[in-house]
Amino acid sequence: MAKIVILTGAGISAESGIRTFRASDGLWEEHRIEDVATPEGFARDPALVHRFYNARRAAAAAAAPNAAHRALAELEADPRFEVLVVTQNVDDLHERGGSHNVIHMHGTLAGALCAACGARWPAPMEMRPADPCPECGRPATRPDIVWFGEMPYRMEEIWTALRAADLFVSIGTSGNVYPAAGFVADAMHAGVPTLELNLEPSAGTRLFDEARHGPATTVVPEWVAGLRARGA
Ligand code: OAD
Repeated sequence: MAKIVILTGAGISAESGIRTFRASDGLWEEHRIEDVATPEGFARDPALVHRFYNARRAAAAAAAPNAAHRALAELEADPRFEVLVVTQNVDDLHERGGSHNVIHMHGTLAGALCAACGARWPAPMEMRPADPCPECGRPATRPDIVWFGEMPYRMEEIWTALRAADLFVSIGTSGNVYPAAGFVADAMHAGVPTLELNLEPSAGTRLFDEARHGPATTVVPEWVAGLRARGA
């Protein structure tokens, strides 16, 4: 069974209507990373941070998975392939597209986390700074999102899967944020073949053995169809 580790970023959800971060009309043009995506920003102005992620949660709920998400789910369902999707995305479009084996390394909009005691519970659509933690009662609830300066989730598991993979594929990510941006080099050092599928060359495009550029809803289903036609 061919083991495939697939890293995804905002580009795979772009055609579902979810804004990316670094495009000219991306989220980081309107918001300062240090204000909305750091623990320090949250400590300074939790209401602003909640407003930002409440808007992201509403946009994700209004979006539907696209042909790229569905193609990855079809690949996972093919018994000749063992597929792990490692996503930087905080939306749930992979799951709604039918994927089961998904790691949200940057957290998820669906989760709430108590900054005081570490308890986790399902996030309501609208989170507010005064919301009490259901376990300790303190008003320290935050979105269960990994911010800059924090360690992404399940890294050991991801690196173990990456080193054991037969193929590493990176889809819809600009290659600017580590450790995800380093996966291509990690795969290369482990002798794992690498493929980039992105609208345009990413920051690390030269490191990939192969790159195919175009919109995810075209290049991802084409790649999956080709792989399934060839077999494991
Ligand atoms: P970026 O916004 O940095 O990059 C999105 C990538 O997707 C770019 O390379 C685009 O060219 C590409 N793209 C856009 N539309 C596409 C399409 N239709 N099909 C295929 N590719 C397309 O987003 P990420 O790389 O995901 O982290 O950003 C990484 C992290 O930075 C995010 O998880 C987030 C952000 O700050 C945190 O907030 C912690």
